[in-house]
Amino acid sequence: AHKVILDTDPGTDDVIALLLLLASPEVQLEAITGLTGNTDVDHAYNNVLKTYEVVRQHCNAHPEDAHRFEHLNGRPQTILSKGAAGPIAGEQALAEYFHGKDGLSNIMETHPEFSFPQPFEHPWLKETDVAAHDVILDILRREPAKSVTLLAVGPLTNVAKAYGKDPETLARVRRIVIMGGTFDAPGNTTAVAEFNIYADPYAAHQLFSGSSALPLLVVPLDITSQHTVSFSALILDDPKTLLQTFVSAILARPRRVLAALGYSGDVFEMHDPLAAYMVTMHAAQESDVLLPGFRTTWRDFVIERAGEHTRGMFVVDKRYALA
Ligand code: BDR
Ligand code: CA
Repeated sequence: AHKVILDTDPGTDDVIALLLLLASPEVQLEAITGLTGNTDVDHAYNNVLKTYEVVRQHCNAHPEDAHRFEHLNGRPQTILSKGAAGPIAGEQALAEYFHGKDGLSNIMETHPEFSFPQPFEHPWLKETDVAAHDVILDILRREPAKSVTLLAVGPLTNVAKAYGKDPETLARVRRIVIMGGTFDAPGNTTAVAEFNIYADPYAAHQLFSGSSALPLLVVPLDITSQHTVSFSALILDDPKTLLQTFVSAILARPRRVLAALGYSGDVFEMHDPLAAYMVTMHAAQESDVLLPGFRTTWRDFVIERAGEHTRGMFVVDKRYALA
């Protein structure tokens, strides 16, 4: 299986992405590094624990479905580190209005059964106090060069800290797949900025400034907002399994918020799940060819850090036609 580090701020779509990765035998999650983004870092961390616990309970309660996660048994435990509590610089921005204060539609108010035991011991997960950026660097130092993919689906704080501390080691990564930013589509946090980049534009700037040395693949809003799933397929009136109940519960708030904002279609945009899907597709193939079946383009851009109206914007140089 292909080794992946997931850097995440769960967050409702982050959880869907994590579930997809857990159900993908071609991916081996070496570590999950959390951070403040959609919600604060403590909630983000707890939401990873919660998701793992729900999957374990789901497998116990529904043996007929346990085969989906069977490959996780006997694998090395996934390291879980808490990560950055706020951006490298600038004011903190959360997305609680969308995901709920807890990041998951305040699930404990409606479903107190989705708690996790304390102290938490899980066959698939190993908590660590090592800082997130050191967890990332330790793995990249230990594993053969170009063998580990880093999938970043939150603000880029942890990744930028890893880059700042040891750029040569970070460059050993096979690819850094980043859900974030927007090139031509409207922003989703301001008119011009996507949330993950808006939340820590200094981190994004630092990382993208080193882009010549780093194999970065950006999965922007231009693509992710085109990939939607109907809420009625995700939120079931009569859920039959624990996972169905969990997913239905965590998506309740985004559905309400989008409807109140006047979005039509009653659909959920698959931002983080799409980036995770690209990683699973890439993991399934042996060669390092850039994602056959996906169209990729090179773009030359810088990140606005503190503009009056443009914090977090990708300022794309459109003067040159790039292949
Ligand atoms: C991104 O922002 C977050 O709210 C989502 O989890 C996703 O990572 C989309 O702009
Ligand atoms: Ca996210």
